[in-house]
Amino acid sequence: MPIKLAVPKESAAGERRVAMEPSTVKRLTDLGVEVVVQKGAGANAHFPDAAFEEAGARIVGTAPTLLKEADVLVKVQGPTAKEIKALREGAVIIATVHGHRQPELVGEMRDRKLTCFAMELIPRISRAQSMDVLSSQAAVAGYKAAIMGADLSCRFFPMLTTAAGTIRPATVLIIGAGVAGLQAIATARRLGAIVQGYDVRSATKEQVESLGAKFIELSIKAEGEGGYARELTDEEKAQQAEELAAHIAKADVLITTAAIPGRPSPKIVSKATVEGMKEGAVIVDLAAEGGGNCELTEPGKTIEHNGVIVHGPLNIPSQVPLHASEMYAKNLFNFLQPMLAEGEFKPDYEDEVIAKSLLTRDGAIIHEPTREAVEGAAS
Ligand code: NAI
Repeated sequence: MPIKLAVPKESAAGERRVAMEPSTVKRLTDLGVEVVVQKGAGANAHFPDAAFEEAGARIVGTAPTLLKEADVLVKVQGPTAKEIKALREGAVIIATVHGHRQPELVGEMRDRKLTCFAMELIPRISRAQSMDVLSSQAAVAGYKAAIMGADLSCRFFPMLTTAAGTIRPATVLIIGAGVAGLQAIATARRLGAIVQGYDVRSATKEQVESLGAKFIELSIKAEGEGGYARELTDEEKAQQAEELAAHIAKADVLITTAAIPGRPSPKIVSKATVEGMKEGAVIVDLAAEGGGNCELTEPGKTIEHNGVIVHGPLNIPSQVPLHASEMYAKNLFNFLQPMLAEGEFKPDYEDEVIAKSLLTRDGAIIHEPTREAVEGAAS
């Protein structure tokens, strides 16, 4: 029997994205899947119901009706307690779950015998790049960070030669040259700024330079496992802060994106460093979600300290909802497609990508670190 795949309206505050958009729905219906979309699900991302219908989806008025029918529920944000309760036992959820942040919901999914795949757990191997929501959404955030920096700045980014004289280009410094940082560098460059990048992983030097930015070389290097950074020691942090302060003092816009998987955002920019910045300088702290890279960042707020604007935006991909949804939906489709055979849901649980992204199944929490967080290490 072909599955019914349900696309609800996201209910988290401020969430404008939708998990599927019409062209991906069309590809799913072509594969024999029956797609059911909640009325208005794509409205905030500017995908009208009519476009979903044209792509072959059926529009359903309310969330309870949609959830009752669903074999597979696809979402951007993790499921709510209400959604978990309304799904039939054994149904499948695919979403960005971050289970460790809401252990009680993972417990409820286990108890309702739901099969849950967490998109953020998809291993970052070459074969799974097209499914990588961490990368696609980080790219959106990096782009938008540069735009936000330009918008909040009292200066132009490009050099301007006008009858009123020549304006020097702005200097933009980006700390953390992962997916988001590199996209912020590329965007700030396109806007005409003089761009500098810094990261504790030396592999990023070449990437930063290939985008036409200058790499700031410090004495601290911190390559960790799996291509990520490791946490710095206290001495290294102090050394890094001291060496970076001189560069930060010259920046018109500072964009920070530093993160360490599973840890709070490293604090890289102290209050004293902010006080050493130029009047009218801007900090866009992309790490605000994890507490921020700047000591003064207030997540979700924009504050001013000593003439410096400190911006701590949350859920930035939601601010570019149409393209962020398109990218998310493509990642989801690429993950889902190998599990579909003539419209039926038949995952190969031996497959590395499928196995590693599995959070709950058959009344058990499969992902070990989450199981420990929910049930305790000893059980
Ligand atoms: P992330 O969001 O975890 O971190 C952002 C950046 O912050 C990283 O580049 C990290 O080195 C840097 N950072 C951490 N602590 C810092 C500190 N104290 N000071 C300065 N910078 C600091 O990283 P993201 O963007 O999710 O991915 C990073 C790694 O994952 C890269 O090696 C990338 O190549 C790899 N990757 C691999 C993929 C694949 O093969 N499918 C897909 C995407 C990323």
